[in-house]
Amino acid sequence: MSLSIRGVLAAFCVAVLAVASAQSTFSPARPPAIPLGVKSPYLSTWQFAGGDGGNGGYLAGQWPTFWAGQITAWTGLIRVDGTTYTWMGAPENVGPPVTQTAFEYTSTKSIFTMNVGGLVEMNITFLSPLYPDDEKRQSLVFTYLDVVVQPMDGAAHDVQLYADISAEWVAGDHSSVAQWENGITTDNIAYHRVYRQEQLLFSETNQQADWGYWYWATKNGPRLNYRSGQDVVVRGAFASNGSIGDSSDTNFRPINQDWPVFAFSSDLGRITRPTSTLYTLGLAQEEALQFDGETGIVPLTSLWTSYFSSETDALSFFYNDYGSASYASNSFDNKIAADSMAAAGQNYLTITSLSARQAFGAVQLVGNSTKQYLFLKEISSDGNVQTVDVIFPFHPILLYTNSTLLKLLLDPLFENQETGQYPNAWSMHDLGSSYPNATGHPAGNDEQQPLEECGNMLIMTLAYAQRLKDTAYLSKHYKILKQWTQYLVAEALIPANQISTDDFAGALPNQTNLALKGIIGIEAFAVIANLTGNEADAKNYSDIAHSYITQWQVLGVAQDATPPHTTLGYGLNDTHGLLYNLYSDAELNLGLVPQSIYDMQSTFYPTVAEKYGVPLDTRHNYTKSDWEMFSAAIANPDTQALLIGHLASWINETPTNLAMTDLYDAQTGNWPINAGDFTARPVVGGHFALLALRASA
Ligand SMILES: *[C@@H]1O[C@H](CO)[C@@H](O)[C@H](O)[C@H]1NC(C)=O
Ligand SMILES: *[C@@H]1O[C@H](CO)[C@@H](O)[C@H](O)[C@H]1NC(C)=O
Ligand SMILES: *[C@@H]1O[C@H](CO)[C@@H](O)[C@H](O)[C@H]1NC(C)=O
Ligand SMILES: *[C@@H]1O[C@H](CO)[C@@H](O)[C@H](O)[C@H]1NC(C)=O
Ligand SMILES: *[C@@H]1O[C@H](CO)[C@@H](O)[C@H](O)[C@H]1NC(C)=O
Ligand SMILES: *[C@@H]1O[C@H](CO)[C@@H](O)[C@H](O)[C@H]1NC(C)=O
Ligand SMILES: *[C@@H]1O[C@H](CO)[C@@H](O)[C@H](O)[C@H]1NC(C)=O
Ligand SMILES: *[C@@H]1O[C@H](CO)[C@@H](O)[C@H](O)[C@H]1NC(C)=O
Ligand SMILES: *[C@@H]1O[C@H](CO)[C@@H](O)[C@H](O)[C@H]1NC(C)=O
Ligand SMILES: *[C@@H]1O[C@H](CO)[C@@H](O)[C@H](O)[C@H]1NC(C)=O
Repeated sequence: MSLSIRGVLAAFCVAVLAVASAQSTFSPARPPAIPLGVKSPYLSTWQFAGGDGGNGGYLAGQWPTFWAGQITAWTGLIRVDGTTYTWMGAPENVGPPVTQTAFEYTSTKSIFTMNVGGLVEMNITFLSPLYPDDEKRQSLVFTYLDVVVQPMDGAAHDVQLYADISAEWVAGDHSSVAQWENGITTDNIAYHRVYRQEQLLFSETNQQADWGYWYWATKNGPRLNYRSGQDVVVRGAFASNGSIGDSSDTNFRPINQDWPVFAFSSDLGRITRPTSTLYTLGLAQEEALQFDGETGIVPLTSLWTSYFSSETDALSFFYNDYGSASYASNSFDNKIAADSMAAAGQNYLTITSLSARQAFGAVQLVGNSTKQYLFLKEISSDGNVQTVDVIFPFHPILLYTNSTLLKLLLDPLFENQETGQYPNAWSMHDLGSSYPNATGHPAGNDEQQPLEECGNMLIMTLAYAQRLKDTAYLSKHYKILKQWTQYLVAEALIPANQISTDDFAGALPNQTNLALKGIIGIEAFAVIANLTGNEADAKNYSDIAHSYITQWQVLGVAQDATPPHTTLGYGLNDTHGLLYNLYSDAELNLGLVPQSIYDMQSTFYPTVAEKYGVPLDTRHNYTKSDWEMFSAAIANPDTQALLIGHLASWINETPTNLAMTDLYDAQTGNWPINAGDFTARPVVGGHFALLALRASA
């Protein structure tokens, strides 16, 4: 495909205008929110960019914000030849913003380029490294901020650099009292340690953790100063003097009382070449969550405690590891870039590279050297722990990066249910209503999506075992997998009136897509039976699945429609929906569903596409980005390109302004129900659906 002349001219005019008004470029897109520090459910700070509530994607002039919307002030100032400018945040009366000329994101980095008065250029890199292959590094809830300053006019310039965090990082209740101290590690890392004075273990306020210790650190040296104190006082000292001196405010007080901030200033001197200053910011929680496992409810430690004997050891390791982190992150970014380009081109890379940090930002490694778990928070939609139908849309990114991590997510669900802590015959929905309390549902009164979750568990267990050739895992869990299959045999073909994972869309009997998940789940069990030497079960359940899929093709297809398509519900011939559960037939290489169904849906979707996607179903105009990418992964090339192109456009144009929502109006790109719904959710791991299929090929 080639650009039309009109398109080329339009693009050229936009570029000229952008330069004339000194606007930033955004590459590969201007996302609804820019990830700054995104590493865990509690280290999740963004720059809101889109819509009325965002500032268009600029680092200076607006406060960095926790995913849930409250400010986590992070401030950057620079003084060049005696004039102070703001490069991050929105402090008042300290200096004008620098001019942002470029923004770029990769899977692990957000990179800003700033022009400071035509004198120096700043390259500011926020790196939240992802280590799917390295438990030690992945277990650290830390992020990097690297600031490179260089002359841009050939002359030497006198430069001082300043950065602070406020106590807003340490608790969601801003009337709670913060405490702090500072120190220097044995290997000369200077740090501020800031925390909620009264530690409330496993408690959250406004989604932020009420326990743990925050570290904000940089390299110590003769030209470094640290200071704690009131925001306007500390920033004012830098603006007027270029140095903050060394001093500690010991008046521990509420976060919102004379707003205490924790600052570093560095005198870079007269610079003639690129000069780098590295900061790290992170959260140390010894105890991560409580879990109702085989021995009842026990606290579990953060996994980093198995590798490091103290918080400051962990801090030092992370800080000094930047070279290795950069190298590993470049490799990770390049792999996702190359694989995404090969799979479906730049539009797809625009999607995957924005999704990686958000997806991994909802999970946390816990446990000890003998037993590790991965726990997931259902961010924003309700805060549940280990929600099975959120792990399901998330899981393609794990099949692509490291399938063992999927096992670490499934393990706690098996452990709880196999030791009799859950009374229902079907799979549970989640392990606890409020992260970080994975305290189970001993009364069995969790949200009920029995058909959905039984199908999900069977599909994901087999997906993991196929990729790692771990048949022992299947044998270990055979009994409960068979129990869930028996539930599906009874319920999948003619689904009762119930909700699917898309619970916000309402309940409906005979949902075509939900039935398909159950039937695929039965065939998955047949494969599991074969792999574990249970040939009789394999034959029985495979026969049932095949019989069901034959009936399903009559019940769930509007054969006389033009063009034909599957329905939302049996017999409702003028309804339709995304048949995203078909993905698992391909994912598991089952060959259960005939190719004609795939082809039919590929032909149909373009006929009902809106500007930003194909609606989830006929009841509403909204769509789900994760299910669109599941559908795209198994569509023909044209329909795949259409779905991917619409989502990439949405990223660049949506009027929403929070961390990527997976639920949006397909016509307007806006919030479909309530503003702020479904933000920052891990289900964007499903955007890797194409890559997960290729990884299994
Ligand atoms: C800073 O970023 C720009 C691109 O925006 C690049 O051309 C330049 O080489 C970078 N400088 C350093 C020192 O990394
Ligand atoms: C995948 O993750 C597991 C658990 O963290 C780790 O032990 C393993 O080495 C990783 N696999 C690969 C191929 O790196
Ligand atoms: C988790 O449970 C503890 C009691 O064990 C409680 O204090 C805390 O508030 C709960 N956390 C959440 C997020 O509900
Ligand atoms: C800046 O602060 C330092 C240390 O307090 C002091 O020695 C110096 O005189 C101040 N400079 C200016 C220009 O105020
Ligand atoms: C490691 O974790 C497991 C599972 O929670 C627990 O049973 C075991 O006691 C722990 N081991 C140590 C040494 O803490
Ligand atoms: C096949 O599975 C169904 C459903 O679980 C069960 O009722 C039936 O007894 C099984 N038949 C055989 C031959 O195992
Ligand atoms: C579900 O579909 C079956 C098969 O077409 C039909 O017999 C049944 O009445 C339907 N149930 C409802 C509630 O519509
Ligand atoms: C189970 O194995 C048999 C013998 O290899 C094969 O014919 C059958 O198709 C397999 N069934 C499934 C569900 O994989
Ligand atoms: C729906 O379409 C199928 C085949 O396309 C047809 O058999 C069935 O009668 C139709 N149902 C209704 C309610 O029109
Ligand atoms: C979809 O939006 C159109 C307006 O663009 C409206 O007329 C229609 O009722 C909406 N459909 C649904 C199912 O909400």
